[in-house]
Amino acid sequence: MKATARANTNIALIKYWGKRDEKLFLPNNSSLSLTLDSFFTTTTVEFSQEVEKDSLQINGASSTNEELLRVSKFLNIVREMAGVNTHALVTSENNVPTAAGFASSASAFAALAAASTKALNMELSKEELSMLARQGSGSACRSIYGGFVEWEKGERADGLDSKAVQLLPENQWNLTILSAVVSSERKKVSSREGMKRTVETSPFYKGWLDTVHKDLLTVKTAIKEKDFLTLGEVMENNALKMHGTMLGAKPPVLYWEGGTIEVINCIYELRYSGIPAFFTIDAGANVKVLCTVEEESTVREALMMQKGVTKVITCHPGSGITYL
Ligand code: PMV
Repeated sequence: MKATARANTNIALIKYWGKRDEKLFLPNNSSLSLTLDSFFTTTTVEFSQEVEKDSLQINGASSTNEELLRVSKFLNIVREMAGVNTHALVTSENNVPTAAGFASSASAFAALAAASTKALNMELSKEELSMLARQGSGSACRSIYGGFVEWEKGERADGLDSKAVQLLPENQWNLTILSAVVSSERKKVSSREGMKRTVETSPFYKGWLDTVHKDLLTVKTAIKEKDFLTLGEVMENNALKMHGTMLGAKPPVLYWEGGTIEVINCIYELRYSGIPAFFTIDAGANVKVLCTVEEESTVREALMMQKGVTKVITCHPGSGITYL
């Protein structure tokens, strides 16, 4: 009745932005990510007849009610699948700066899905596990696997074809992602709210939907051919398009801060001087920079010198779920 699992977070190279079903976390578009090795969540779940309600500790402290509610709702899905009604003690160690655009919910719900189902001796395939994790946080479905991962949006109303699949394992292509931290504050608009507002009010959202599938196909080919420049160019353009759709929302959704722009300009200057580096930004102010392992230290030094950058964390492709 007790199990521990660890999941790494992932960075979307082709973003998921907008849902077709809020309750089942079904996306409007397929997305593609790289699982990273430096940000992870380790979660222990113990189901016990002795406790009367679920409890949640994050990094040694009691969680907020909102966090507990979200975890309990997720555990209800697991309990229903397993046919049990036992409550659980959940303890989670997170080494991801929470809610600052580092997708802490991705590693959190991937680890929770893995630990809770293992604790109940449920034998789920990775695809099934990804469909379960998706219902905690969309991007979590991709963290079940290591390396390059696609979340296939699916067509079905019940979501049974909206799952993640691995495209290339983590040891097949070594690249560097540098995470430039410009803010560790909790973002003011959650990704859930940001995407809902964009879908409902942005006139640019149609342009997003018209082009994102082509971006995904181009990146899939770039991964197959290990074509770094195409991967970087399409990734960067895809992120900017996602943020562009948000600026058209009413009221606008702007996650960037001053440091975000400093980093963007730094990347443009690096490229101008012949160093291929590309950026992507999730629903937060921090910037993730993709470069080759050979250029890692040069790019890192340049990032460290930017105004507003407090830290640069070096990441490489990471593994999928592990049970401890
Ligand atoms: O799954 P969520 O609610 O954390 O949303 C993720 C949204 C982005 O990080 C911006 C894009 C993505 O595909 O991860």
